Amino acid sequence: MNATTTDAVPAIELRGVTQRFRTPSGGVHTALHDLDMTVAPGEFCAVVGPTGCGKSTTLSLISGLKAASAGRTLLHGEPVTSLDRRVGFMFQTDAAFPWRTVLDNVAAGPRFRGVSRRDAVAGARDWLRRVGLSGFEDRLPHQLSGGMRKRVALAQTLINEPEILLMDEPFSALDVQTRQIVQDELLGLWELTRPAVVFVTHDLEEAIALADKVVVLTVGPGTVKDTFTIDLPRPRRVQEIRFDARFVALYERIWTSLRDEVRLAYARSAGADPGAPTKDATPSPATATTATGFSAPSEPATTPSDDAEVH
Ligand SMILES: Nc1ncnc2c1ncn2[C@@H]1O[C@H](COP(=O)(O)OP(=O)(O)O)[C@@H](O)[C@H]1O
Ligand SMILES: [Mg+2]
Repeated sequence: MNATTTDAVPAIELRGVTQRFRTPSGGVHTALHDLDMTVAPGEFCAVVGPTGCGKSTTLSLISGLKAASAGRTLLHGEPVTSLDRRVGFMFQTDAAFPWRTVLDNVAAGPRFRGVSRRDAVAGARDWLRRVGLSGFEDRLPHQLSGGMRKRVALAQTLINEPEILLMDEPFSALDVQTRQIVQDELLGLWELTRPAVVFVTHDLEEAIALADKVVVLTVGPGTVKDTFTIDLPRPRRVQEIRFDARFVALYERIWTSLRDEVRLAYARSAGADPGAPTKDATPSPATATTATGFSAPSEPATTPSDDAEVH
């Protein structure tokens, strides 16, 4: 058991959360059903589940972007009522202003919170140094590589020192090598301020390499199917840890839980028989980086509009 997961009031607590949406045809679609989940202060929690099972919706509820149809969402024991400044959010797509320099993009958060320009710029320089982008302060976002833009996004988010960090498939658009480098960087940066993290990913390897625990959601309506403690030692190097025998064992256990949900989701979308034997034996984590392949990498990070909610 990880030391961060005991006793203290959870940083995040979802109790019996249900989320319904109105469909265009006038029906009701239940995206989440009776979902219970807690994340301790300083804990790194990864969430995996098939496309459409409610992962992004879960993050929207935690962030206060949405209110649940039923159930309770608490941050540090207090109900979430609106967007909370203690929460940082990082999506798959970049949130940088394309016409602003990297420095101004990173300084924008503190400026918005009323920090003086001088202090905001000093803080932004500091964070750009931490993410390895000293010397790139005056570039525009489009003048950077994909990996560098992710570092900008990390600096933009972490400069606000969030107590809770929500990440929705943030690295899925990166190539494999860049992704692993940025994952390592994320772990190093996370150690600096230790926010509680909920990291949604379609990549089971990524989930295990980064997290203290992995939550598997069922096919929609999403609810927690299983929670696995990842007791791999830290600090970790994600490029190497996936060859560790304990990593491979965890991968097999979690994939066994996830596999059925993936098959069901696939069967629903393809009209196939979910009970039919398939050829996809446990994918090897060492050879297939997007081994589970259970979500299209090009899937947009959805920020669903409010108008379709049902309470
Ligand atoms: N605003 C909305 N209106 C109607 N249905 C929605 C809305 N947002 C999400 N959904 C539906 O809820 C389910 C869960 O969506 P989402 O949380 O984006 O899934 P995931 O992130 O796991 O892929 C999906 O079936 C999706 O189509
Ligand atoms: Mg999503």
